Amino acid sequence: MPQRVILGVSGGIAAYKAVEVCRRLVDAGLHVVPVLTPSATRFVTPLTFSAVASEPAQTELWNAPVPIPHTRLGQRADLIVIAPATADILARLACGLADDLLSATALATRAPVLVCPAMHTEMWEHPAVQENLATLRRRGVEVVDPDVGALAAGDVGAGRLADPQVIVERVLSLLERHRARPQSSGPSRAGSGASGAPHRDTGRDLRGRRVVVTAGGTREPIDPVRFLSNRSSGKQGHALARTAARRGAAVTLVTAAPFAPADEGIHVLAVETAEEMARATLPAAEQAEVIVMAAAVADYRPKRAAPSKLTRSERVPELELEPTPDILRALVERRRPGQVIVGFAAETGDALGKGMEKFARKGVDLLVVNDVMVAGAGFDHDTNQVALISAAGIEQLPLQTKDAVADAVWDRVVELLAAGDPVPPSAPTDEDPVHGAHPGAVRLGTEHARNAYLGQSIEPEDHR
Ligand code: PMT
Repeated sequence: MPQRVILGVSGGIAAYKAVEVCRRLVDAGLHVVPVLTPSATRFVTPLTFSAVASEPAQTELWNAPVPIPHTRLGQRADLIVIAPATADILARLACGLADDLLSATALATRAPVLVCPAMHTEMWEHPAVQENLATLRRRGVEVVDPDVGALAAGDVGAGRLADPQVIVERVLSLLERHRARPQSSGPSRAGSGASGAPHRDTGRDLRGRRVVVTAGGTREPIDPVRFLSNRSSGKQGHALARTAARRGAAVTLVTAAPFAPADEGIHVLAVETAEEMARATLPAAEQAEVIVMAAAVADYRPKRAAPSKLTRSERVPELELEPTPDILRALVERRRPGQVIVGFAAETGDALGKGMEKFARKGVDLLVVNDVMVAGAGFDHDTNQVALISAAGIEQLPLQTKDAVADAVWDRVVELLAAGDPVPPSAPTDEDPVHGAHPGAVRLGTEHARNAYLGQSIEPEDHR
């Protein structure tokens, strides 16, 4: 059963963006119940939310079909997110008022509450608002801070609602975190937070570890408006960053994706090109114990980017390409003793064979082989299916969420860290390159592994 999210909408100009938040939460597989304040209905009609949500929008504390709607909504919620959260609703929450459906619901819950403030700069900076927010933070309410940008009536400044994707990523991350540490007390929550895929409690086995994760597809400019890129969304890299932070690591996320997770414990470095990714990753890696290269870094870039937009009236341009910096190679060359380096390989056709060849060549401790031709796996999907190759063996994982894939990668990294200074793998020999597969792995025996290495086919049952 999907997790239940109450999407509270209060009355600000940004209420229209909450429709997009609602749609994306539903797309992410959540059961979304919109609850609008009376002022919110002046900006967007309940019908609009009802059309995209999992059930009709609710607005009434008194004339609802059930007698006490707020307690039902609050008790059954896995999370309450309020976007936009006006100065008024923040004050109501801080004071514990309960005379409309949204504020009453936010009181009648033990679920986590996330507020996404949006208002004019003068209001946002007012001590009353900031003190209310400080009160809420102290009580454990989570906050997605507003952006700086265009506001209502042509004004520009701090107070613009955060991007819907940022809000959605924060909701998903909070739900994951909450599922890992379920509530121990409170009224019966049957049919609520216990639903969804069980989250394996990995504890905080990366506490105190500094990790660098790269994500997204780099963009290599052709001219000021065009670029060469690939289909990477950044989801797998962001899942790695989120799960590492949840397991206690201090994470530096170097991402070329347009939206980055806004979780605690993640320091985001936004980049665009392979060159920028190299400049951000290499210095960060000097301090790190673990580096995971999940980014789809362009292998080639135009030698010269045109200074102005190429037009149709000019002759068809000839693009001369040059190689980009090989970041993974530079990392392996500079590896400090004890540092664990994880590479990814996006492959099509005989993915495992190509992966084994890459593992032998790249000098990484762990290679995550991603057969991007598998349905539901690879670029832009919320799920993924990978094989993990290390000196200890090959582990074929099933199709699962990108968070679950990330946790499996961190499990193997934790083992490598515990093993001390991991010995870089040597070039393959005639000896069996695969031994001692990790428990839970679909174990590939000597013959299969060698066949895979030689690029021959493996029986389908061994690929599961
Ligand atoms: O972002 P998503 O939509 O969630 O999709 C996830 C993914 C498919 C992008 C991810 O799972 C994945 O496979 N990432 C690696 C993609 C890739 O670039 O593979 P590759 O085989 O081309 O590169 C091998 C390794 O070298 C990678 O770790 C890559 O980060 C690194 N590399 C590549 C080129 C370069 N110039 N420098 C590098 O460091």
